[in-house]
Amino acid sequence: MAEEPFKGYLSNKSYGESLVLAIKDNVSFFKNTGLDKKLSKSNGPFVDLGCSIGNELSAFQKGYPHLKTMGIDINKGYLKEAKKNSPKSKFIYASLRNIPLPNNSIPILFSSRIFQWCNKNKAIDEILHETYRILKPENKGIYIMLLEDFIKKEENKYFIQQVKDKGFKILKNDLENYGMILQKPNNKKYFYS
Ligand SMILES: C[S@@+](CC[C@H](N)C(=O)[O-])C[C@H]1O[C@@H](n2cnc3c(N)ncnc32)[C@H](O)[C@@H]1O
Repeated sequence: MAEEPFKGYLSNKSYGESLVLAIKDNVSFFKNTGLDKKLSKSNGPFVDLGCSIGNELSAFQKGYPHLKTMGIDINKGYLKEAKKNSPKSKFIYASLRNIPLPNNSIPILFSSRIFQWCNKNKAIDEILHETYRILKPENKGIYIMLLEDFIKKEENKYFIQQVKDKGFKILKNDLENYGMILQKPNNKKYFYS
């Protein structure tokens, strides 16, 4: 598992709770990202890609009660649990390779530790393509991506090249330890209606 950007931060809390508190306190990886302000001001939806059993969604929901939250996962059993863990969130049963959401529609995307499943470059390619497509452009949208060892060690170069090729603007790059914070520039490169 990757080192979390909030490693050691309030370690008595769960992963999701520590993450939300680290964002609120503007620590470490989240410094100068304006993320807390964005999450406080936005109605969302905040979409967790590969939400599993909904623990992180639940933490964000509690931390930012006004925020509409949504989770996507390909595992029906996980989604059933997620509905119990985060009852206010909406859920979509779908693959991240083909996300049933419109272009330029989502202001806040979040994913944590989803890419270790992508042991083929094609999957990395397709997921980055889809996340770029649905993210709102410029400072209306932000993608918080937390990664894991797989990306750090083996697929690092390919991954970062794909992020750039898709057209993402990299706001924070701490791929060695944590992850990336990305935006989509308003350059009409992809999927403009
Ligand atoms: C290691 S878990 C990470 C869960 C959570 N985000 C976390 O950080 O603890 C990976 C999740 O991605 C989901 N997943 C894997 N491939 C997927 C795909 N193609 N589409 C949607 N979800 C996928 C799995 O079902 C699982 O819930």
